[in-house]
Amino acid sequence: MRIIQLSDIHLFSDEGELTTIHFNNFNRVVDFIIDNKHALNADFIIVTGDISHDGGLPSYDVFFNLMAKIGLPFYYLPGNHDNSINLCSSGVKHGAVSDTSLVYDEDWVVITIDSIFENEDFGFISNNSLRDLEHAANSAGGKNIALFMHHHLIPVGTPIVDDCMLRNASDVLELCLRLNIKFIGSGHAHTLFQRKIESALVSVCPAICSQWLNGTKEVNVVKNSGFNIVSLDDNIHIETWLI
Ligand SMILES: [Fe+2]
Repeated sequence: MRIIQLSDIHLFSDEGELTTIHFNNFNRVVDFIIDNKHALNADFIIVTGDISHDGGLPSYDVFFNLMAKIGLPFYYLPGNHDNSINLCSSGVKHGAVSDTSLVYDEDWVVITIDSIFENEDFGFISNNSLRDLEHAANSAGGKNIALFMHHHLIPVGTPIVDDCMLRNASDVLELCLRLNIKFIGSGHAHTLFQRKIESALVSVCPAICSQWLNGTKEVNVVKNSGFNIVSLDDNIHIETWLI
């Protein structure tokens, strides 16, 4: 199973300098994926949140229209900047699917989890969601499990995002290891990061909008767009494209 993971597009609904930059970056990534579709050889796309910066409906129209251009199945989940109601209603309007419960092959099952704590930048996964995760993992029939969420679980060394990572990360990580989840993919940190913890590969996908300068405490970005191809087989292999 080969998955394109896109994250942190941060589209805007009004006009402005960043609106144009973030739109152009996303447009460039969409064109790159279309132009290299055979080489990338992906089965589908998962977008791990912060699709919009302001949560406005026009930004979601932009997102769904460009995703439709790619012509691959795609799934998405919200980030802390998204407005879940607008994202959901826009998804329905565009006939998009956020639910990954039917995404699997002979060896792998894909599960997503909502890490949003309303009106906060940090993430938190509720006990109810953790119970749902446990249920989904136990229903995986012994297949390997890949889990996607918005917030990162391990500090990436950049205070501006580590200050608002997943709050109950150690509980979530402990549960994931107990459930034998093999891959945990997130976004949110606007950087590339990977760490193997016991049998799980924890991976942070770079952002489409721009990356945070490593180690920064203040707004300070590196101007590029990145995405990951997550290749799930007997082994897990991540290809990162920075364009
Ligand atoms: Fe975020």
